[in-house]
Amino acid sequence: MPRKLHIKTFGCQMNEYDSARMADALAASHGFEATDNPAEADVLLLNTCSIREKAQEKVFSQLGLWRELKTARPDLIIGVGGCVASQEGAAIIRRAPYVNLVFGPQTLHRLPQMLDSVLATRRPAVDVSFPEIEKFDRLPDPRVDGARAFVSIMEGCSKYCSFCVVPYTRGEEFSRPFDDVIAEVVHLAEHGVREVILLGQNVNAYRGAMHTGEFADLALLIRYLAEIDGIGRLRFTTSHPQVFNERLIAAYAEVPKLANHLHLPVQSGSDRILALMKRGHTALEYKSKIRRLREVRPDISVTTDIIVGFPGETETDFAATMNLMEDMNFDTSFSFLYSARPGTPAAEFVDDTPREIKEARLSRLQSRNTEMAAAISRRMVGTTQRILVEGPARKSPRQMCGRTENNRVVNFDVQGSTNAGRSRPPASRDTCTSLYIAGAGCESVAECADKSLIGRFADVEVTEALTNSLRGRLLVETQARRA
Ligand code: 5AD
Ligand code: SF4
Repeated sequence: MPRKLHIKTFGCQMNEYDSARMADALAASHGFEATDNPAEADVLLLNTCSIREKAQEKVFSQLGLWRELKTARPDLIIGVGGCVASQEGAAIIRRAPYVNLVFGPQTLHRLPQMLDSVLATRRPAVDVSFPEIEKFDRLPDPRVDGARAFVSIMEGCSKYCSFCVVPYTRGEEFSRPFDDVIAEVVHLAEHGVREVILLGQNVNAYRGAMHTGEFADLALLIRYLAEIDGIGRLRFTTSHPQVFNERLIAAYAEVPKLANHLHLPVQSGSDRILALMKRGHTALEYKSKIRRLREVRPDISVTTDIIVGFPGETETDFAATMNLMEDMNFDTSFSFLYSARPGTPAAEFVDDTPREIKEARLSRLQSRNTEMAAAISRRMVGTTQRILVEGPARKSPRQMCGRTENNRVVNFDVQGSTNAGRSRPPASRDTCTSLYIAGAGCESVAECADKSLIGRFADVEVTEALTNSLRGRLLVETQARRA
């Protein structure tokens, strides 16, 4: 019987991505199958994130729960990976001696060998070094699951914002070679992926070595990826305003496959706070970049990250952030209460704003952002949106769902839609295509439509805006666009 692996992930998309790569690596090396149930797993891995949370405590309380499983089954292997592992290293095993493996975000590709060593010697294995590019080289091709895929193109960050732990936990920026990224996306496209989300802590610092000896930036990478057959939509996250340049704006102007959405964290609207954060740009510089972008993509949706309650933030600073949010008309954004991260410069700053005040500011900011995003949703009613159909809707199996370019989920009925492209019903279920949605010829119309629509682009008319999603009416399914 195949051995089972359970991974619990705390944190961001980057961590989710890393967890998927851990599962791939152990499936390829040892035939591990993933399970959601820790009680039936042979290996338990905790993939941690410490960017905003008191992650250490979360880690040890989770480990405490797993310890009971290990008492009942002494052969159980327990591993800790990610940012907390990278910060704490062997100290994790000193505090929780039943842990067998400790690995950092940059050494997850060594998991198979580390696991072999634990199995052979029964002694703990710890590796939290930063071997850089080796991580990308040693990972198996990702397994394809669905029409959207995340592709990590760079790792780490060299910006050293004063509040942020990432440069310390993930190391300095390093980019994956250009040809490797292209090869991975070709592979994904051949296996049905239609939308690719390029990932990295600071993706617009991408500088990928090409076989010609030159280096490609993110704008060039996007232009090449857009040429790959089958790829219909590209996104990237997260980027930094300082390196959001004219070449990227030109890519937005000239590459229609680049989604009409940009996530560009601003963190604050106050120049004083931005300087204390060491962001390297002013509010005006941020605004002018977005203005330039909107010259080439007038209706682009822009989302951001904001930190509220940075040490020394006054009411005036906060008002500047609220103003910037209005000015930029941000779509659904992320905002967080500042949290001091050990080892970062800002952790030493005097922070004398009472927590209640910070919380009140955060909730003002979040309610205004919710209103702004709702207004954007309402304005979408009556428009035609191209969505990538992902599968059945969560709440109703009779409905399908997909995502718009500005990342909104649209649920739509598959039954009762009009015959958009065929005059005769398909002869059999096998030949059923999504262009024929309603009518005879399928044992179950819904099932037929489900199968054929998944992984394709379709145009829907938005009929209703709800709090967290949209409702729509299917117009016509289209093929993946070509540039
Ligand atoms: N406190 C609060 N938010 C933080 N972020 C990063 N570090 C901190 C911190 N110490 C937020 C930033 C960043 C996002 C990924 O997490 O807004 O863009
Ligand atoms: Fe952290 Fe982003 Fe700043 Fe890098 S650019 S230090 S990841 S907040």
